[in-house]
Amino acid sequence: MCGIIGYIGSQEAVPLLIEGLKRLEYRGYDSAGIAVQNAIGMEIRKCAGKIARLEELVSERPPCGTIGIAHTRWATHGAPTTQNAHPHVDAGRTIALVHNGIIENSDVLRRQLREIGCEFRTETDTEVMAHLIAATFEGNLEQAVAAALTQIVGTYGLAVVSSRDPGKIVVAKRGAPLLLGLSENDEKAMFVASDVAAVLGHTRKVVYLDDGELAVLRADGYALMDIGSLDPSEPTRFIEREISHIAWDLDRIERGGYPHFMLKEIFEQPVAICDAMRGRVLEEEGTARLGGLYHLSEELNSAQRIIFTACGTSWHAALVGEYLLEEYARIPVEVEYASEFRYRNPVIPANTVVVAISQSGETADTLAALREAKRNGATTLGIVNVVGSSIARETDGGVYAHSGPEIGVASTKAFTGQLTVLALFTLMLARRRGMSILEGREVVAALRELPEKVERVLEAQEQIDQIAEAYSSHRNFLYLGRGAHFPIALEGALKLKEISYIHAEGYPAAEMKHGPIALIDEDMPVVVLAPDDSVYAKVISNVEEVKARGGKIIAVVNEGDRELSAKVDHVISVPRTIEMLQPILTAVPLQLLAYAIAVKRGCSVDQPRNLAKSVTVE
Ligand code: G6P
Repeated sequence: MCGIIGYIGSQEAVPLLIEGLKRLEYRGYDSAGIAVQNAIGMEIRKCAGKIARLEELVSERPPCGTIGIAHTRWATHGAPTTQNAHPHVDAGRTIALVHNGIIENSDVLRRQLREIGCEFRTETDTEVMAHLIAATFEGNLEQAVAAALTQIVGTYGLAVVSSRDPGKIVVAKRGAPLLLGLSENDEKAMFVASDVAAVLGHTRKVVYLDDGELAVLRADGYALMDIGSLDPSEPTRFIEREISHIAWDLDRIERGGYPHFMLKEIFEQPVAICDAMRGRVLEEEGTARLGGLYHLSEELNSAQRIIFTACGTSWHAALVGEYLLEEYARIPVEVEYASEFRYRNPVIPANTVVVAISQSGETADTLAALREAKRNGATTLGIVNVVGSSIARETDGGVYAHSGPEIGVASTKAFTGQLTVLALFTLMLARRRGMSILEGREVVAALRELPEKVERVLEAQEQIDQIAEAYSSHRNFLYLGRGAHFPIALEGALKLKEISYIHAEGYPAAEMKHGPIALIDEDMPVVVLAPDDSVYAKVISNVEEVKARGGKIIAVVNEGDRELSAKVDHVISVPRTIEMLQPILTAVPLQLLAYAIAVKRGCSVDQPRNLAKSVTVE
């Protein structure tokens, strides 16, 4: 995720900013930049790629000055290029700003700003903020920032400097974290950062901003205020905030206090799902708006077949997509392992849309499959997490998952992000192919409730931990599910295999009797996905078959379930939602179960043996 660090004090800013950026590297980024405000005005250095590259740039022509802001960018709008890297400036280069978050109405603002003569140099949503602040500037930076923010829809943590109102950094927060670092000694200095890791080398005294707050930082202190009260017609409402003392070490802070990135990422899912939906759901029309597919409306309307191609966890997401699209949009779907697709001679008739799903956007097999599909004349789409990645660049269109960087090798939040995007894609196509507006609105309402329901699933962590205790020394696991929960069973088994090195297999529940049933005895735990859906009764019969052979059953059911719960050894309850979205909720406890078992077995959770986060070789 993007990172912010800013400094105002008596020392040269650049070395402190570079050090802060390095502390933020663990969050993942694809470009970085610095702005220093000094007697010349504003000096900016930025580049795509690593901070080491930025250091080179800075050392070629070092910007001098004691006030500066810096940023690591993880692209969400616009490719990870030098041009798109922060800081962004207004036309006169008198205002520079760094921003975390997403400005949802940037397209509208961009159009309005163009009408008054603004020229845009980047593809980012952030650049509109620089122009907006310049347009509202009347001599006082904090008032201009506050006025500009009244026009913004979306989320932000931002830091702004201006040569027209020098000697201060103005920062503001809504929906993206931001904190102030206070000097520990007598030195007159202040820091601002998006993450405490960035300031920890200098201070353990921090003040956290809340949403709707703005702070003005000067070398000798800061003033915290309510953004809304900066209107000149009102008295400014200043805020007193307690100083927090950070006791954790750096290593722990980088993981947000979690023992592993994987657990952190599992717990980030409510936010990641929100981000995947942000600005894409249309309540009134009961549908989804996917900007990266606008120009392909005709191809999508005339599509007679969709082929998904992917690897690993993304392939499981594709299987869920198959169930969703066929059920709700009534389009025939095929799912192919990318590694197979690329070497077959696939039949790709006219009006076929090939969709590559990939967290990294760089998986070699998926990329090759995509190229093969293009050669065969298909329209190609990508459902990708990493903006500007190869798959994102080479497809005709696509939808970003916006899950944020995933560091743990075993994919978690990127998977549920992919499922969320697939639900939006299904909704959009289904509404064009017969789904009524009322049904569409039901889907929208259920999507809105989803993040809070994922929060509720996460509350089961302690209970899942106890279940893990009982089974961590078993050597085999079976995962069963039906319908769209069959791919979730596959994903649950994969998670366990990847990080705990226990052999696990996923099966469609009814298929068990055609083979795997021979394996069942009291040493074979069976994880059964049994939400209260159209195949619930069938799953109960499958559970009976396991029980009759002494198998131990861990069931994932809906809250309030009685019938199945009475028959099994362990029950994990998840909230009820519509069938289209239920797989997102049943996937989460399986991630927690795999995690807890791996920890109990002392495995290297974030970097399992033999696995790589992004497989860029064949
Ligand atoms: C690797 C990772 C998996 C991932 C797969 C596909 O094998 O270890 O977690 O699911 O690649 O990656 P992609 O980036 O294309 O989704």
